[in-house]
Parts: sequence; C-alpha cells; structure tokens
Amino acid sequence: MISVVVLISGSGSNLLSLLQKSENPLYPAKIVAVGSDCDAPGLEHAELYEVDTFVVHPSQFSSREDWAKTLLANVLHHQPDLVVLAGFMKILPVSFVSALKGKLINIHPSLLPEFKGAHAVRDALANGASKTGVSIHYVDEGVDTGEIIVQSEVLIEPGDTEHSLHVRIKTVEHELLAQTIEKIAYKQLPVAKL
Ligand code: GRF
Repeated sequence: MISVVVLISGSGSNLLSLLQKSENPLYPAKIVAVGSDCDAPGLEHAELYEVDTFVVHPSQFSSREDWAKTLLANVLHHQPDLVVLAGFMKILPVSFVSALKGKLINIHPSLLPEFKGAHAVRDALANGASKTGVSIHYVDEGVDTGEIIVQSEVLIEPGDTEHSLHVRIKTVEHELLAQTIEKIAYKQLPVAKL
C-alpha cells in the first residue's frame, strides 16, 4: 500500500474518483492528505471521506519560495510515497520539485508535448485538432515538460465545446490516473529517469 498526497486547485473530480477507488481494500493506494493553494471546491470531497486537508495561500507569503517551502512541509508531514498534482494550477519552484523528484506526477488534458499550459482543452479546439487526450507525467522543473508515463487519446467531435470536450477528457483521466497509481504502487512502471 502506498501513501498518496493529492494537490488540487479546482473541482477535484479526479480526486473524488481516486477517493472512491481507494475505498476498495484491494486498491493499493491510500490518499493520506489533500492540499491546495486556495479554498478549492474539491476540498469538500476530502472532508467527506475524512481525509486530512491543508491550504497554503500564496498571498500569505512574501515570496513564492516561502510559500512553496510551507506547502512542501505540509506535504512531507504526511510522508507520502507519491504526490499527485490533479488540477493544481500553481507553478511550483525548483526547490519543491527537486525535493520530491521521482515522486511527483501531474495529470494534463492533452497529448503532451502538444498544448502545454492552463488552457490545453481550449487550445486543442482553437487549433482545429482532430484529437487530443490525457497525459500523466513526472514533474520536472518546466511546465508540463516532464517525462511522460502514459497517454490516452480522446477524439474531438464536431460541435464539441471546451466544456463537452473537457468532460470526455476527464472521464478518461479518472480511469488513467487510478490505473497509473496502481502500477506505481505495484512497481510496474520504470523508475523515473529524472
Ligand atoms: C484536469 O483536466 C487535469 O488534467 C488538469 O486540471 C483538471 C482538473 O480537473 N490538470 P478536476 O479538478 O480533477 O475536475
């Protein structure tokens, strides 16, 4: 059984799906805490499942480094084997990423390296792409640049809006994230080359 800390900034549908999956005693990962940079609506899922939460607001710190140091301390307090960025919308400084090297993964709604950044779904539509998808990758010092662990395609349908496409992408994300964490727990994935 591995211990997982999940960091979110938004609605937390990936978090909710993981909480539901980890209710199964055969699922090899336990979410030990959920953290955020804001009062994210998704924190309610953690509270419902009686999982510890912490919020570290950047505005309460004089520098990004100090904010990240406190965020890291909160994460490490729970001694996780794995830290999952599931819709965490702040860019983390090198100090945070290095401290968790090989243990920090992110889920992103595109087939990286296409459509990096915060508007990946919108950008795929604006570019007239016929398909996009989901990537799960180790986090490195860049933005959405780390080593890719797994990807899955999602076809773009005529008439798709950012919302309709993102809903379909999230359905794929929920399964892919749970499967990937399971493989990490069973050491079925190669060790990160970071
Ligand atoms: C997901 O699409 C994820 O790929 C991206 O942010 C979104 C988070 O969605 N990084 P949710 O908060 O899990 O619903």
